[in-house]
Amino acid sequence: MRKKILAANWKMNLLQPEVDSWLAYYHSKSWEQQGVEVRIYPSSIYLKQLQNLPLHVGAQNLYFENFGAFTGELSIDQLKSVGAASTLIGHSERRLIFAENDALILNKVGACARANFPFILCCGETQQIRSKAEHQVFVVEQLKAHLDGFHTNQLHLLVIAYEPIWAIGSGLSADVAQIEEMHRTIRNFLADKFGDLSKQVPILYGGSVNASNCAEIFACPDVDGALVGGAALDPDSFYKLLQALD
Ligand code: PGA
Repeated sequence: MRKKILAANWKMNLLQPEVDSWLAYYHSKSWEQQGVEVRIYPSSIYLKQLQNLPLHVGAQNLYFENFGAFTGELSIDQLKSVGAASTLIGHSERRLIFAENDALILNKVGACARANFPFILCCGETQQIRSKAEHQVFVVEQLKAHLDGFHTNQLHLLVIAYEPIWAIGSGLSADVAQIEEMHRTIRNFLADKFGDLSKQVPILYGGSVNASNCAEIFACPDVDGALVGGAALDPDSFYKLLQALD
């Protein structure tokens, strides 16, 4: 059975006192749920503070080199040293705002594979691509480019997050039919590339997941959880998502 994952992507949000309040709420609840892994991706300045929590804490970004003159960047070893257990790669905000291209993303995937460091690989189309009905081809091409050279024996490191760009932070989630279609397409791509072992790779949905729409999204057969932005900033709304994921 594939594990389910509920991941909070805090992005560039929450000041220190807000993180402290989030954690106070966190400690007041039980986050143990059979078969579900809860993850937090905070700003990296908070990794050390979160490192002793009994849940998976990861980085929102990394650089693929080990160390050196790369001002402002963080390496896998640095992130590990403050408790990061995984990273996000290829989030659309990194691609669009920070101009991350396929070559850079491929390098990051390669660095994670070499370091045995787990990652969530994000993919997803723009509204323009979807309106031309090219979304399935586009996402498969993205994954082909980013997983070039990735081996079947590294699949335990991989989680995929399908995040249509038009649904991120817009309040307008993809509908169930759109999510199911794309998750099936991704699942089929993984099966073609990696065979039976690819069944272990969780595929998360991301894009305006909230307490009102999560039940129908989590009921989709190929959805193994969610990568959540806005609704994860308030710990109570994030907790409601966990309760809906069983
Ligand atoms: P959102 O963000 O839930 O605020 O749409 C999701 C994401 O970008 O990972």
